[in-house]
Amino acid sequence: MASGAIESFDNKARREFESLGRTRVYRGELLRHPVYTRVLHWTVALFFFLALFTGFGIYLPWLFRWFTPFFGGGPLSRQMHPWFGLGFVFFFGLQVLNWLAPMLWTAADTKWMRNVHKIVSNEEKMDPPETGFFNAGQKVQFWEIVGGCIVFIITGAILWGGAKYFGGTAVAVSYVLHDISALIMLGGIFIHIYQSTFGEPGTFQAMIRGAVSEAWAWTFHPAWYKQVTGRDPVQACEEARRKMEGRR
Ligand code: HEM
Repeated sequence: MASGAIESFDNKARREFESLGRTRVYRGELLRHPVYTRVLHWTVALFFFLALFTGFGIYLPWLFRWFTPFFGGGPLSRQMHPWFGLGFVFFFGLQVLNWLAPMLWTAADTKWMRNVHKIVSNEEKMDPPETGFFNAGQKVQFWEIVGGCIVFIITGAILWGGAKYFGGTAVAVSYVLHDISALIMLGGIFIHIYQSTFGEPGTFQAMIRGAVSEAWAWTFHPAWYKQVTGRDPVQACEEARRKMEGRR
């Protein structure tokens, strides 16, 4: 019942956003992320960095004081930070609804995790054949952000209310948890940005234009490639290789 309501909400949003923007999928490409997903992703990223930069000024003012003039000074940065945080959590919440189904953990993800060293060191040319729309690494990061958002909401509310409402101990503990959560998320985002740009070439355009090449799909997400095209990823790769060799 609830999952049906979420699905129809997401489908309606995807339809409406598709009429606002455009996704061109050329020959040899596959649709990866519709307009709705891309708008949500970049809105989440914007609020994340606004919350991060205003947060830095509060966290280590002696080091990051130079950020605060961009936000109208220290006191204004402090006032704006929780609102940026709420924006981040709200839009990421919509993304959670949008991505809930492909982010669920499967047996293939456990297998992917066991082979992570081979994948990261490029020992394997292609991801394991069972790798679907998102791989296990992407799912771990997604669920880490979900956990981080829950920590931000609880500890952020306590810090916003202050010792007057919640007591000094709760505020002190919240400071530590809030900051640890932010640092873990920041570390994850560094890896995410690297992976989405240089780490796996061809990924960035998925969040810009919404489309990826078939070669990208059979290399990094073979099971998803098979699901959308009905073709065998290894065979498709071999055919492409033969074609290229024939042209030389
Ligand atoms: C500003 C730099 C960023 C870049 C270049 C970037 C790029 C991308 C790209 C290309 C994808 C699509 C991956 C795919 O289709 O397989 C993606 C997905 C995603 N992004 Fe970002 N992103 C950035 C910032 C962020 C931020 C700040 C967050 C959240 C705090 C975020 C959360 C996610 C999540 C959860 C996914 C889906 C899973 C994954 O691919 O890891 N991104 N991003």
